Amino acid sequence: MHILVTGGAGYIGSHVVKQLIEKTQHRISIIDNLSTGHQSTIDTLQSISITNKRDPVAFYIEDLKNFSAVENIFKTASFDAVIHFAASIVVPESVENPLKYYMNNTVNTTHLIHLCNQYRIKHFIFSSTAAVYGEPSEPQVTETTRTLPINPYGRSKLMSEQVLQDASKENSTFSHVILRYFNVAGADLSNRIGQSFPNATHLIKIAAQTAIGSRESMMIFGDDYPTPDGTCIRDYIHVEDLASAHLKALDYLEEGSASNTFNVGYGHGFSVKEVIATMKEVSQVDFEVFTAARRAGDPAVLISNNSKIKKVLGWSASCDELALICQTALAWEKTL
Ligand SMILES: NC(=O)c1ccc[n+]([C@@H]2O[C@H](COP(=O)([O-])OP(=O)(O)OC[C@H]3O[C@@H](n4cnc5c(N)ncnc54)[C@H](O)[C@@H]3O)[C@@H](O)[C@H]2O)c1
Repeated sequence: MHILVTGGAGYIGSHVVKQLIEKTQHRISIIDNLSTGHQSTIDTLQSISITNKRDPVAFYIEDLKNFSAVENIFKTASFDAVIHFAASIVVPESVENPLKYYMNNTVNTTHLIHLCNQYRIKHFIFSSTAAVYGEPSEPQVTETTRTLPINPYGRSKLMSEQVLQDASKENSTFSHVILRYFNVAGADLSNRIGQSFPNATHLIKIAAQTAIGSRESMMIFGDDYPTPDGTCIRDYIHVEDLASAHLKALDYLEEGSASNTFNVGYGHGFSVKEVIATMKEVSQVDFEVFTAARRAGDPAVLISNNSKIKKVLGWSASCDELALICQTALAWEKTL
């Protein structure tokens, strides 16, 4: 198949492209505007292609908002499937500038789905998020848990899911998989690619930055939650395991299976304090940590129920170890 990967110069997209190069024979094209992605990531992916004796990845530096330019790519390239990562992803920014999120996430995704229908693309894999669940009443969420996002980022993603579901109902030759990621962290086990965006807001990235001294200290937001140590518990998934879920989803769609939605997480979690203690241990640096007030909209516990993806896609984890997640994140941070 010829796969279009949007956002392939970014953190998660680049790990999926790497696995597509190393583990499949699919032809790969990337569209990315390099707003948070990097040319150096594309260069690394090209050298991984050479090592694996594969054709180079076709790379289009383009913004999805340039509808006619993107359509021109569709006209000439003849894709079979789209894996759509490109998005704006910073929750606090989405509260300050919601229209940026609705335009870049919902509007551009809608246009991409429209092009898929127009150019008879068969399959679409969409990067969604646990943020669509908002503040669920149960700590472990299944795919049927009520979706009630509490910020524009989560709403922009949920609306994109709904557009995709409606478009697939309308078109029997178009099928999709929605993957709802939990807390993605870590980096390529060979330390060639990782999360390079300096303003990322993810806990493990911030702990790694603090361990190597690019931040003086870090904050814990709230230590009075109803959890064993008072800090929030999240389901951290290594980016390699998340990436492999996309390859499973692609196989599933290629076999002709029906459109579906899956949580992607490990089904268990760690507290903020446990993550910080692990980062201190793997880095051997006792960095400074302050406690601040709770942030609005942080549920005490958010963990995936991952039975569905295991059963239906046959997905399984191979990097489910907090120390490994922290070690790979730290090793990558040192390269930046
Ligand atoms: N990182 C996480 O923990 C997490 C969790 C849940 C869901 N997600 C979803 O995963 C996807 C990828 O996230 P990431 O962490 O890799 O982010 P990222 O910022 O590293 O990657 C996004 C990529 O998309 C590109 N991009 C953004 N807008 C674009 C546009 N209009 N046109 C072309 N390219 C554009 C960026 O340059 C970047 O390379 C996103 O859709 C995000 O919502 C991420």
